[in-house]
Amino acid sequence: MTDVNAAFVRDLVGRGLERREAMWLVEEFSPGADADAARAVELAGTRRLAGEPLQYVIGHWPFRTLDLDVDLRVLIPRPETEELVSLALKALVSSQATSPLVFDMGCGSGAIGLSILSELAERGISATVVAVDSSIDALDVARRNAIKHALHAVSFVNSSWFKDLDPSLQGHVDLVVSNPPYVGESEFEALDPVLRHEPYGALVSPSSSGVEGFKDLEIVVRESINWLRPGGSLVCEHGSTQADAVVQLATSTGYANVVDVADMAGNARVLIARKPLT
Ligand SMILES: C[S@@+](CC[C@H](N)C(=O)[O-])C[C@H]1O[C@@H](n2cnc3c(N)ncnc32)[C@H](O)[C@@H]1O
Repeated sequence: MTDVNAAFVRDLVGRGLERREAMWLVEEFSPGADADAARAVELAGTRRLAGEPLQYVIGHWPFRTLDLDVDLRVLIPRPETEELVSLALKALVSSQATSPLVFDMGCGSGAIGLSILSELAERGISATVVAVDSSIDALDVARRNAIKHALHAVSFVNSSWFKDLDPSLQGHVDLVVSNPPYVGESEFEALDPVLRHEPYGALVSPSSSGVEGFKDLEIVVRESINWLRPGGSLVCEHGSTQADAVVQLATSTGYANVVDVADMAGNARVLIARKPLT
């Protein structure tokens, strides 16, 4: 690091930023002697010191193999969702679909669908992704990320879940994958205030069937079965307290091979279920 940039780090640390984050911002904007970049790093420091998540301040963040643009319009993709993608890929590859059709429900930044598209392409499998979100702002970010990574086999649909999707696709989808909002309204109040910077509608879902934050999960689990082909998979992230309810719902909806997989911390967090072959 140059002496000039080291001085920027000292200044940010002096203003109260952690040294690691100060270095991150300086490396990102590399101010040096450039006046615009110097202003950018100062502004970034001010935003971070005001509590805005580092990912939004930097404006992009790694997710699996992709560097995704992120801003206040989308959820910051989480490490546990990287595990969801691993499980989704495993489900797809085991089904031996040669050119799978994938629905990414509630796509946000596009993290899940774009990763699946990109990682399947690395294995020589050309998938098609339909990325769905009720937020036009989120779709804008996802579209930009698709262009950034030259991922073209994806269409973006503004829809509340399955409502406005092409009905001719019913019964033809190989994989429905989703990380829907699942935080309960009252749980949200107790969460780290840093989460208040993320879109409320990306995190919080109303209660349903006596379970906090369950409404959107319930819709995705109930309706996916109509869109999956026989043998197709649903892979869905959920909250750690919702495992019993989501497994029960999937079983009573008529899915087969219903399992719930724990995350690295040992909490049940991902539902995997198949539409029966007959
Ligand atoms: C938890 S975020 C997940 C974002 C992204 N898939 C990820 O994992 O980083 C949930 C996403 O669902 C979207 N969403 C919320 N309600 C929806 C609805 N009724 N229909 C479609 N998408 C919805 C939100 O806008 C948000 O982008």
